[in-house]
Amino acid sequence: MPRTLSTALVTGGAGFIGSHTCVELLEHGYEVIVVDDHSNSSPEVFARTEKVAGRCLGAVYRIDLRDRDALNAVFNRHPIDVVVHFAGKKEVAESVRTPVEYYDVNVGGTLTLLSVMQEHGIHRLVFSSSCSIYGEADRIPLTEADPARPTNPYAASKWTCEQILADVCRRRDGWAVMSLRYFNPAGAHPSGLLGEVPRGAPGNVMPYMAQVAAGRLDRLNVFGGDYATSDGTGIRDYIHVMDVAEAHRLALEHLAGRPGMRVFNLGLGSGTSVLELLAAFRRASGRPIPYRIVPRRPGDVGALVADPTAAARAWGWRATRDVAAMCQDAWRFTRLNPAGYADRP
Ligand code: WQD
Repeated sequence: MPRTLSTALVTGGAGFIGSHTCVELLEHGYEVIVVDDHSNSSPEVFARTEKVAGRCLGAVYRIDLRDRDALNAVFNRHPIDVVVHFAGKKEVAESVRTPVEYYDVNVGGTLTLLSVMQEHGIHRLVFSSSCSIYGEADRIPLTEADPARPTNPYAASKWTCEQILADVCRRRDGWAVMSLRYFNPAGAHPSGLLGEVPRGAPGNVMPYMAQVAAGRLDRLNVFGGDYATSDGTGIRDYIHVMDVAEAHRLALEHLAGRPGMRVFNLGLGSGTSVLELLAAFRRASGRPIPYRIVPRRPGDVGALVADPTAAARAWGWRATRDVAAMCQDAWRFTRLNPAGYADRP
């Protein structure tokens, strides 16, 4: 029976993972309210979100989370039951260049959100965390019990938020938080209507690769060929954005009656090197993808792979879509939307 009673506020709901999660929640009967500052997203995405879901968003607001009055007005206007918090900056290399901005947006924005939630007696939150908090892991795959050793300001900002959330849950009754440590979300909605559309040149490897395949960028710079991996290039655990969206709905639905904070890795549980991803994208697109090996990127680590069994045990769920599907869906979106969301669907 579709849910029609629960109202979810999705911060960063115009972003890559946020928009796919809005579709998932709309398709399961939630009322969805979005706040987004569009610093790395386009309002064009909302029409597509509604077209894919076949339902309307409840409301959308262009807000910087650090604007307490504006955020408070949203909570005054809507009977919000739960918050899914994506809004934040998310690029490793950028965070090394602008650390203060990353702490201000990611930690400051989260603190303002928690303060307004508390003021309105709303204590259920799904938080967008990241595998990058593990840093240079001693061993892979990584479980949620592995130590946090962030190696860049982005990762440190996510770890700081997790520690704040854990302390709030310890000291204040009634708070229920699910922190989801994404490995590397990739791919696009199979409809070809939603995908990853970063502002400016893509920082992440999959959208960059897609732009090279489409001929909009000359070649891929492979950051580092001397890691202790099978082919010397960085290994990541890529997880389809559709699987990530499903996991957010499941996390949200497991919050009720479960006070405290729980942490889950979100990954496929298998690693793919940059050159292996390149080969998969070539197969999906049928395009040559010129590349060159260049020095390592500051803040990067050699390998990050998830042990996804905690989520499997807790929710009876595993990611099912493989790297080939991620490349096929990302390529379809890139091919159908040469100008990103500026193209009319
Ligand atoms: C992947 C691999 C690079 C670009 C991302 C998100 C972060 C978090 C974790 C969610 C690395 C290499 C990259 C390029 C390359 N996800 N690379 N050339 O840094 O693992 O972090 O996933 O929270 O938000 O940013 O992702 O795609 O940038 O890098 O060779 O042009 O590809 O060195 O090995 P990363 P990425």
